Formats: sequence, C-alpha cells, structure tokens
Amino acid sequence: MGADASGAVLEIEQGLTGLGTSFRDAFAAAPTEQALRDAHARVLGKKGDLTALLKRMGAVPAEARKVLGEQVNALKAEVESAFAARLAALARASRDAELAATPFDLSLPARVGTPRGHEHPIARVRDDLLAIFRDLGFVVASGPEVEFEANNFTRLGFPPDHPATDMQDSFWVSPGILLRTHTSNVQVREMMSRPPPLAVVSAGAVYRRDDDVTHSPMFHQIEGFLVAERVSFAELKGVLTAFAERLYGPGTPVRFRPSYFPFVEPGAEVDVGCVFCALPDGTRGGCRVCKHTGWLEVLGCGMIHPVVFEHVGIDPEKYTGFAFGLGVERVAMLRYGIPDIRLLFENDPRMLAQFG
Ligand code: DAH
Repeated sequence: MGADASGAVLEIEQGLTGLGTSFRDAFAAAPTEQALRDAHARVLGKKGDLTALLKRMGAVPAEARKVLGEQVNALKAEVESAFAARLAALARASRDAELAATPFDLSLPARVGTPRGHEHPIARVRDDLLAIFRDLGFVVASGPEVEFEANNFTRLGFPPDHPATDMQDSFWVSPGILLRTHTSNVQVREMMSRPPPLAVVSAGAVYRRDDDVTHSPMFHQIEGFLVAERVSFAELKGVLTAFAERLYGPGTPVRFRPSYFPFVEPGAEVDVGCVFCALPDGTRGGCRVCKHTGWLEVLGCGMIHPVVFEHVGIDPEKYTGFAFGLGVERVAMLRYGIPDIRLLFENDPRMLAQFG
C-alpha cells in the first residue's frame, strides 16, 4: 500500500468517526426548512464534509474499498434519511400551526368596498337640464342620431348650399343621410307627428367636424320648442328666464341678443350674467371665464319661422311658437370648471372619479 493510499484510508476512517452522528443534532436543531437545507449542505453539499470523504474514495486501494465504501455509503444513507425525516416533520409542524391558527374565512367579503360607479358628468347635467324643462311643463322626446338631410336641414329652412350642409362640416352616411348636426331635427319630427299645442324638450348626441379645446366631433344638445295659438316672444323670454334662474339661481340676469338661425325669425342668442364674477350687489366684476364681459353665452333661440311650419304641415296663420337649443358640455364645463371638452370623453377614471 502506497503512502497516499494508506493516508486516504486513515483520512476517511477518521472523517467517518469525526462526522459520527453530529448531523442528527444539527438537523434536529434546524428551526426552518432553510436552516435544515444549510445543515444538509454542510454534510453532503459540494463542499460538504461527507462529500469530501466520498471524493477521497478514489485513492483507496481496492482491498480496502469494499469495507470502507460500505461504511461511507451507509452514513450517506443515514444522512439522507435523517434529512428527509426532519423535512417532513417541519412541513407537518407548519401545517399544524396553520390549522391551529385563527380560522381564515375565505367567504368573507373583501374589506375594501367595491368602488361604486356613478353617472358621467354629461349625463348628470343633461338630466338636470331636462328636469328643469319638465318642471316647466315640457314633454321629453327623443330623435335619431342618423337622420335624413330633410329633417336636419331642409325642413328647418336651410338653403341647399348652406355651409353647414358641406362635406367639411357634417358627417355624411350616404347621400341624403347624415349624423345629425343638432337636436333641432326633433322639432321637425315631433311637429310632423302630433298637432299643436306642443311643448317638447329633447336631449342627445350631435355630430360636427370640429375638434379643439371647446369643440368635440360628438357633443350633446338640449332642444326645446313650444307651439300653440298666440305664442309670442314674451313667452320665450319668460320660459328661458325661468330656466336661467333655476339653473343659476334666482335673480340671474338674462339678456337676448339678435342672432341668425335659418329656422327662427326673429332669432336670438341668450346670455346669462357670469356666475363666476357676480358680486353681492348684482353687478359683475368681469373675469377670464366671461372674457371680462360679465356675460356667458348659453343658448340660441327664436320664434319658429313660418317656413318651418309650412314644411311640417302646421298652419302658420293659426299657430306661432318658439324654439331654443343649448350645448350640454358648455353647461357642464362651466359648472365643474373643466377647461378642455376632450377631458369629458377620454374616459379617464382619474378625471371622472372627481364627479362621483
Ligand atoms: N340648432 C342650433 C345649433 O345647433 C341651436 C338652436 C338655435 C336651436 C336656435 C334652436 C334655436 O331651436 O331656436 O347651433
């Protein structure tokens, strides 16, 4: 037997004695799976004590290898079984601890309340506006968003070459059919389907080729009209003044400025006293919102043009009436201080949640 060979035998024999059963205590003392795995690695890992002995087996002469090999392998088997037993014991202990712990009821509802949805600010303002006119005695009607050119333009007295009828300004579906550019189509449809007296209000989406800070290609309008015998501009002023006071508070000043719409004569634009710079004495200081005029433009209106009555089969000698139209977004933007109309339609919950 050479020097190295007998050295290897001695080394392994001493190593086995040294290792003894110390691993058992180390495994038993390991409080966690990780600690157990670390202890195991110190014996049988790459740099483990027993691994080192196994590596030395190559140097053991053939006649000693059988006996020594059996001893080393037996120890290795012991280490593995002690490790497995302790691993199972740790798993059992943690399972028992889980079972013994305060029960966790999976069926309990989550502690964070489910977030509640709410109406879109446009829907809220629309309904508020409709409610005011309903209170004033108007009936709520609706009309289609895809409309005949005749109901959107022609019967309302738009000349065939009016710029609003242009490809650039309206969304055409096919010749003679377009996305309505205003809710005034409801006037035509209602007047054609029922005889006067009529007091109707309607709300809905309208479409125009417009897209900037204050214009969206889709927006919403409220349309109202009243037709009966002997209706005058006085009734128009009365209804719209009552509307302004209900929307912006008693005493809200209202002014009517002459304006042109093909389907009314006379036509007017209505301003209300700026609600942002109103002073206690009823005057207004002027501000950025009203561009220092003290007035906010809110709607268009007028006495229904006789030509409209003729187009829908109502006798203009017997009946008169007034009509008005306003933008819902404008009212919402003023009410909530929203600076850009596009914010209303981006559907960003961080924006919409502010109106819950
Ligand atoms: N249709 C008009 C527009 O879209 C608004 C309007 C003005 C409606 C005067 C009316 C009215 O009924 O009388 O700008």
